[in-house]
Amino acid sequence: MNWPDNGASAAARQQLAAALVAGRPSEWSDAFASVPRHMFVPRFYRQNAEGAWQSVTWGEPGYLETVYSDAALTTQLDDRGVPTSSSSQPSLMLSMLEALDATEGHRVFELGTGTGYNLGLLAHQLGDANVTSVDIDPGLIEDAVRHLQHAGFNPTVAVGDGAQGYPRRAPYDRIISTVGLHMIPQPLLHQASPGAVLVVPLGYGIMRATVTGPGHATGRFLTTPAHFMARRTNGAAPQFEAADQQSPTDSSVPAEALLGRLKFAASLALPGYSSCSWRDEGGQLEAVGLWTPDGSTAIAHVSGAVRQTGPQQIWDTVEDLDKVFGSEPARDEFVLTVTPTRQTVSYGDTDGPSWALPTAL
Ligand SMILES: C[S@@+](CC[C@H](N)C(=O)[O-])C[C@H]1O[C@@H](n2cnc3c(N)ncnc32)[C@H](O)[C@@H]1O
Repeated sequence: MNWPDNGASAAARQQLAAALVAGRPSEWSDAFASVPRHMFVPRFYRQNAEGAWQSVTWGEPGYLETVYSDAALTTQLDDRGVPTSSSSQPSLMLSMLEALDATEGHRVFELGTGTGYNLGLLAHQLGDANVTSVDIDPGLIEDAVRHLQHAGFNPTVAVGDGAQGYPRRAPYDRIISTVGLHMIPQPLLHQASPGAVLVVPLGYGIMRATVTGPGHATGRFLTTPAHFMARRTNGAAPQFEAADQQSPTDSSVPAEALLGRLKFAASLALPGYSSCSWRDEGGQLEAVGLWTPDGSTAIAHVSGAVRQTGPQQIWDTVEDLDKVFGSEPARDEFVLTVTPTRQTVSYGDTDGPSWALPTAL
């Protein structure tokens, strides 16, 4: 291992830290200026113009500038070239850490160790003894331990499904997830101390919730948009061929609305949905594909023709959302209420629409 800190990395890091806080006071500016991201991301992958992934390793041209820029960095790919781990965008990490409001003496649980960089920031701020993190990937945990030790940290890390928490080190005063969730896992609430704060990606937003009792929590979304890697589960593949064979219906909702103003609301109404788009050679949108973990699939063409298949008619849900949200809604108007048996997101006042999130992990 040879990723020493030198004048160039220290200067680049301080520049990034200054740019992130942009002149305002932040309790996290010292952590970003001190913890060497390059020791956690000795190699990352980026896509060239043809979409092929290329690795960039410590010491190569452009490496240092990119590691110390406000960029999310893909750090692991699976056999099909799909990213399976990344170091999140530093400005988003900062927003989440600030929202976490962790102060001296707080015990923090992190879901999704990845490179260990966010955990290094937490350990810098709160001390090794107060931070614990879990990742589902044993290889990543092995690497993260090396990165952390190289940077001078030694927090508790473990392999497992982070949605189950880590009971041996509970209770936690603060819980942060760097993995996308579809609901708040009950085990986390049961490992939280009274009044604990959770900051977790929920759908395409960031939820900040407070624990109000055993298995109970309530909170609002931050205004910050976010799209995190989803917690690894076994969702069904999209059924595009089966959808193509269905008779089309006419939709008045423009296909592109799903990629823009309805994207966040759809992530709450259709938990765990994925989407893709088809474009012509000139880059003009032709159609949008949409599917949920139960295999329900819809293809919406820009002409208005929609074909759907599977247990749910999921484009019908998009049409319902369109009736409510003619323009992009403010994220912080969405409120989450969690009880041991139900999780509900409601919009606006008490008469506004609401959606039930899944309760099973
Ligand atoms: C965006 S990365 C985490 C970034 C990390 N905090 C960092 O600073 O590098 C998401 C991570 O979540 C992990 N992950 C996915 N599903 C998980 C699960 N069910 N439990 C724990 N970790 C999970 C992935 O292996 C991946 O490393």
